Amino acid sequence: MDSGQLVAALSITGAYSEFVCLPQCELVPVPFGLDAAEAVSLVLNYVTAYQMLHRSARVKPGQRVLIHGAAGGVGSALMQLGRLAGLEMYGTCSSPHVPVISAMGGTPVDYKLVDFVKEIRRFTGSGVDVVFDGIGGSNIWRSRMALCPGGTVVAYGLSASLRGGRLASGRSGRRNRFQRLAIFGLVIAASYVLPGRKHVIPYSIQWLKRMRPALFRHDLIALFDLLQQKKIKPLIAARFSLAEARQAHELLGEQGVTGKIVLVPKGVDAIANFNDGRKVDTLVSPGADAHERNQRSHERNQRSIACVIGRCP
Ligand SMILES: NC(=O)c1ccc[n+]([C@@H]2O[C@H](COP(=O)([O-])OP(=O)(O)OC[C@H]3O[C@@H](n4cnc5c(N)ncnc54)[C@H](OP(=O)(O)O)[C@@H]3O)[C@@H](O)[C@H]2O)c1
Repeated sequence: MDSGQLVAALSITGAYSEFVCLPQCELVPVPFGLDAAEAVSLVLNYVTAYQMLHRSARVKPGQRVLIHGAAGGVGSALMQLGRLAGLEMYGTCSSPHVPVISAMGGTPVDYKLVDFVKEIRRFTGSGVDVVFDGIGGSNIWRSRMALCPGGTVVAYGLSASLRGGRLASGRSGRRNRFQRLAIFGLVIAASYVLPGRKHVIPYSIQWLKRMRPALFRHDLIALFDLLQQKKIKPLIAARFSLAEARQAHELLGEQGVTGKIVLVPKGVDAIANFNDGRKVDTLVSPGADAHERNQRSHERNQRSIACVIGRCP
């Protein structure tokens, strides 16, 4: 790795910083000429979406999929990559996001106004082949009801656990988390036992990266390539300075965010052009994960999941 090379990493912890120290094996080179805020948006949301589509669900052109929270960070990545994969897409969202889903080639389903299971049945008859569920809890079971026989729910998040930027349950982080994991395990087990050949499988970028680091590197490089070819266009909801991280988290917690929030550390004044020779250290991209983790693990003083882009010293 040359000095000055732009690199990206999913550091998980310690990314809210101007300088980050990581082992070289964690770094993925960023091709020249990419917008840094767009590039950093790929590291968590797009790798998650790409791996769920092509490694967990192994989608095929023409298949029908339902994407929950389709205007959110991971949801919009699923929509863009699903379109490239030739999928017929349905996306749940609240009413302000209906035009966003249509513009990305999906059929919007306003989950606050209609029952998404009934709506999917009305549109498709037999149901969809895959549901991507980042909502969690009882929503996973309802997602299973929207499947056709042989279909799969890929469950990957717990957006429903937040309300108004706080844990919806109001309970302490650790207990709440174990309870949710237990419910999750039960749903997965029940989905295999019950008739209908409908499965629920979990996905975690952290687990997959830990077990198969080469896949993470391969998939991020494939996504940088798609960004360079302008086949994908990450939605940047807002750019905050690192000192405004609190406001960024409050915005994440309020929901209604379209796309990705990017934190820009001090000294990074031209994130639209990262390759202009100016001294730039890191760009940080917190996910909804970061917010949930901060809420859930408050008592354990854990750090946020986040990804960075910066220059090698
Ligand atoms: N497993 C992994 O590896 C992994 C990786 C990345 C993220 N995640 C998880 O994935 C989830 C989503 O992350 P994100 O960054 O995409 O979050 P985000 O940008 O905040 O988007 C969440 C979306 O969920 C929607 N939503 C909330 N409640 C809903 C409901 N009941 N039904 C349908 N949609 C609902 C909201 O839509 P409206 O605003 O339109 O209402 C919002 O756009 C989080 O739980 C995060 O922790 C997991």
